[in-house]
Amino acid sequence: MASAPVAIDSKRVAELAEREEKRLEDETPKSYELFKRASKSLVNGVSSTYQMRDPYPIYFSHGKGSKIYSVDGREISDFHNGFGCMVQGHAHPAIVETIKKRCELGTQFALPTEDSFIVAEHLAKNFRLPKWRFVNSGSEATMDAIRIARAYTGREQVLKIFGSYHGHHDYVMVSLGVADFGDIGPRDNYKSISYGAGIPKAVIDMTAAVPFNDAPMMEARIERLITEGRAPACVIMEAAMMNLGVVLPEPGYLQAVRDITKKHGIVLIFDEVKTGICTAAGGAVERFGVVPDMVTLAKALAGGLPSGAIGATEEVMQVVESGKVYQVGTYSGNPLSMAAARTSLEQVMTPDAYQHLNYLNDRLISECDAIGAKYGFPGYTVGISSKGCFNFATAKITDYESFIKYQNVELCYLAWLYNMNRGVIIAPGREEEWTLSVQHTDEDIDRYVNAFEDLVKEVLG
Ligand SMILES: Cc1ncc(COP(=O)(O)O)c(C=O)c1O
Repeated sequence: MASAPVAIDSKRVAELAEREEKRLEDETPKSYELFKRASKSLVNGVSSTYQMRDPYPIYFSHGKGSKIYSVDGREISDFHNGFGCMVQGHAHPAIVETIKKRCELGTQFALPTEDSFIVAEHLAKNFRLPKWRFVNSGSEATMDAIRIARAYTGREQVLKIFGSYHGHHDYVMVSLGVADFGDIGPRDNYKSISYGAGIPKAVIDMTAAVPFNDAPMMEARIERLITEGRAPACVIMEAAMMNLGVVLPEPGYLQAVRDITKKHGIVLIFDEVKTGICTAAGGAVERFGVVPDMVTLAKALAGGLPSGAIGATEEVMQVVESGKVYQVGTYSGNPLSMAAARTSLEQVMTPDAYQHLNYLNDRLISECDAIGAKYGFPGYTVGISSKGCFNFATAKITDYESFIKYQNVELCYLAWLYNMNRGVIIAPGREEEWTLSVQHTDEDIDRYVNAFEDLVKEVLG
């Protein structure tokens, strides 16, 4: 944390944002042309609401290594990396070669292939959970994991962390994000709030939320739910939150959660869609040494191809093995994704690759912190392996409430624009973080750090 931080002039931040918006628009005329055509047939001109940008999105044509290229001819160092999918970097030669070979052998049979169980063997070893199934996205992984946990326990209630994102299915689009929720209720009894329309109230009420980094509060809520006859089937959580920037678990928190869930017969699911692969070969399980009953993976698993996975103990997966739960999907474990995942795990995400990510991330963290301290700029950097962010915050963020209270949202928006205009892209949204790739170099870090220093100097005037 910077010592003696100075106050931020919000008027100046707004003026800078206006200037940077204009500059971005001046330099992206082709994107605007494409948007006008795209939005006639494609809703908002994009394939996911998370790809929208006001007044129009920037369209990209290709990527290579640590760089992506916009249709407007701009080369950009990619710290967005597909919301954290591309830790291998774009068009990694080993993955490209594998995909080419696999294409020529056929890409989809809906019949098992050898790569799928070889990938499962790697994951079983890395995540210390013996049994796996594959799906096609993070949402599918968390949806099926919750169903399995419900079947295993014979219970229906889901417990999650307030502010945590686990995908776009009904069970978990509850009490998350940074929408204007108004009153979220008291800390020991947060409301279950729908994230967007179209989700039945009965389903919303089946998911309760508790604060991150507060094990006693979790246990108290569990005990109350049990008293009300709503014992939770599972606790689904990120071991390190990656959807409020990056929030690391405080020492002892994860072990306490492990002990509480075990005591109450609740299935503990670590959603490692973002932390898995990106923070270590064995994700948060390896980094923090706490083994849950289930793990969900997606994003970086298949090096840029759609994929997801669910891992669990023998006992929990017995409900699938016995045929009690239908865990199914036409494209699940498709040969193309499985081949790419195998190459990624065996040839790309090597111990050397993680060492390289740690080196680059340490540089980014220490240099951004040094700039903050030099100028007395409010905020601090937090990160783990390929992931991190500069928290534009006046105090430490440990959970959703402190995030909302301390984070300067206008600065987050300005930083995104400012970076875009200086050849650096970060994932948009105040809740996002950077993801490095194994193909990033010191030059990418220099670009980021230089843009950050210029931003700090300009904001402070
Ligand atoms: C922790 C976490 N879980 C699940 C998901 C959903 O993954 P997908 O978008 O592949 O459905 C996300 C997506 O950002 C995520 O961050």
